[in-house]
Amino acid sequence: MNTLAPEFKDTNPINIATDMALQNTVLSPRFYTTDFDELDNMKIDGLRSEWDKLMAEFAADPNQSHFQRPDDMLKDYSKLPEGLYQEFLDFLISSITSEFSGCVLYAEIKKKVNNPEFKELFGYMARDESRHAGFINQWLKDFGIGVDLGFLARTKKYTFFKPKFIFYATYLSEKIGYARYIKIFRVVEKNPEIRFHPIFLWFEKWCNDEFRHGEAFAVIMRSNPKLLTGINRYWIRFFLLAVFATMYVRDHSRVEFHQALGVSPTEYDREVLKLTSEISKQVFPFTIDLDNSKVWEKFERLRQLSDRIEELKEQSGILSKLQQLGNGLLAGITFVSLYMMPVIPNELPVNLRLKPVW
Ligand SMILES: [Fe+2]
Ligand SMILES: [Fe+2]
Repeated sequence: MNTLAPEFKDTNPINIATDMALQNTVLSPRFYTTDFDELDNMKIDGLRSEWDKLMAEFAADPNQSHFQRPDDMLKDYSKLPEGLYQEFLDFLISSITSEFSGCVLYAEIKKKVNNPEFKELFGYMARDESRHAGFINQWLKDFGIGVDLGFLARTKKYTFFKPKFIFYATYLSEKIGYARYIKIFRVVEKNPEIRFHPIFLWFEKWCNDEFRHGEAFAVIMRSNPKLLTGINRYWIRFFLLAVFATMYVRDHSRVEFHQALGVSPTEYDREVLKLTSEISKQVFPFTIDLDNSKVWEKFERLRQLSDRIEELKEQSGILSKLQQLGNGLLAGITFVSLYMMPVIPNELPVNLRLKPVW
């Protein structure tokens, strides 16, 4: 939904970027709110020692001084070939929206819960995400734009999710964030000549923050095993597939960005999703069978349908509307058939705690 007044749109580049970040489509990062009383009832007593260790890591704040653009990097880094410029800008805006979405949600939880331990945890996580978003904004300035984070927080539409859905979705997005950042970092580390922007140099330490955030949700979910059993298994399957398919579709719209990094979106997504899936064994009772080529065929089908819907949105008239509906229906059917595919039970011990070693 575009809530910006039209007179801002074409005149102020700051607001054009904010406008992009404000968009709510199926694929764009969203802002969430939740039931804070229900959240307050979650327990962490079963995993006290893990919790304490994690809190000590947050308190130590190893990345405190990491997110600063250094003085010797103040030149303009936005001079990129045209297609790459657009896709990289889209990547930065989508990333800042995700980071800030986390920041707003965590800050809100910190403010509204009574449990002092949750207040502490969500305070630390809001701190980290605010740094991440602010850091991206420092580089966006080269493009002559910036995202107005305060405006975004006030105007973007919020989606209500029950706490358990927040946990499934946010756990996955933190772990995917970790996997995405570390995979890109490893690519540019091995091939410094393809590092077309310095921001990638920050990804190694950055991804450790995201990994730690994911750990916090893993500890909360494992301390409340009801979240991982019974009917909730169906929800977990839904979130795994929805988050994975969304990433696949979104990444495949950035062809030149991936080309510049010397990876195909499919190859990159395979690696990121396999890593995320492996990590998620620490908490979820099963994983999606990513070795089954049919799963990838269905992701691809969803991508084609999504592209077709985007094309149709450019056309006016009733026929286009009907075709959009028809393609939306086909996407729904494809997702259901994806959902019905067998998953792989997870046999690893539930108390497994992974370390970021990849
Ligand atoms: Fe972050
Ligand atoms: Fe995070």
